[in-house]
Amino acid sequence: MKTIAIITGASSGIGKEFALRVAKEYQIDEIWAIARGEDRLRALQAGVPVKAIPLDLTAPASVDALSALLREEKPNVKILCNASGYGKFESFENVSEEDNLGMLDLNCRALTQITYRVLPFMTEGGIVVNIASVAAFQPVPYGNVYAATKSYVLSFTRSLGRELKSRKIKTLAVCPYWTKTAFFDRANRQSVITRFDCMYEPSFIIKKTFRAMKKKKKDFVVPGAVAKLTVFATKLLPHKLVMSVFLRQQKLHKK
Ligand SMILES: NC(=O)c1ccc[n+]([C@@H]2O[C@H](COP(=O)([O-])OP(=O)(O)OC[C@H]3O[C@@H](n4cnc5c(N)ncnc54)[C@H](OP(=O)(O)O)[C@@H]3O)[C@@H](O)[C@H]2O)c1
Repeated sequence: MKTIAIITGASSGIGKEFALRVAKEYQIDEIWAIARGEDRLRALQAGVPVKAIPLDLTAPASVDALSALLREEKPNVKILCNASGYGKFESFENVSEEDNLGMLDLNCRALTQITYRVLPFMTEGGIVVNIASVAAFQPVPYGNVYAATKSYVLSFTRSLGRELKSRKIKTLAVCPYWTKTAFFDRANRQSVITRFDCMYEPSFIIKKTFRAMKKKKKDFVVPGAVAKLTVFATKLLPHKLVMSVFLRQQKLHKK
């Protein structure tokens, strides 16, 4: 039986970095790489064969194609990494309805649906890695829907891990701070955020992710000192104050 890793968002940024490293860290025969950009998926040089599965995950029916492949090939899925996601930093009313709902569809519904469809193909020792965000820990004005989707990802991932303990399957929520990827081409197109206080490299996020994947008891990871400090503060301070600090720190240009 073939042992595989399934990675959504593997065409860019954090998901791509995960795909480039996974075969170095784990014994897998193949990577199933999912995103919309087929050419970028095909171009992945990950050290093991890559099956490019071009899907627009905002469409619920798109996941049926993945299910069909799973039923046909019956692989052992060692690792599932849900990295596809996007955000919009803009006032709620200025983000289109399509995007406000699209974030729910991609960041929450697709992640849940894929996890549900893949779990029957996982065995003892399998890992589900979901990319959340530090935004999961606090309400974020001008990023309200995005932050709420990431709170969902964090909560879902941690509680699912408890349920899957009996099957010896681990879950891990990764909570990155600002990370240098194409994310901002879409998220900050209106330049609402005018200053980023700190920006991490995707390779750093993934180095910390793989370290956490190997720690039995860890079910979420916040990579980096600035990120950790921010999360610590959001746990101590009233969220009204946390929101004011966020607006000041990122120098939001309110339109
Ligand atoms: N960058 C940050 O500061 C940051 C911080 C915290 C959390 N995150 C999270 O990290 C994850 C990865 O983002 P990133 O920073 O690496 O950004 P990115 O470079 O823009 O990557 C996003 C990935 O999602 C895929 N994607 C977008 N829309 C899709 C759709 N409709 N269907 C299927 N796949 C789709 C993209 O591929 P295609 O365009 O080819 O479909 C791409 O592979 C996201 O969940 C994001 O929320 C990012």
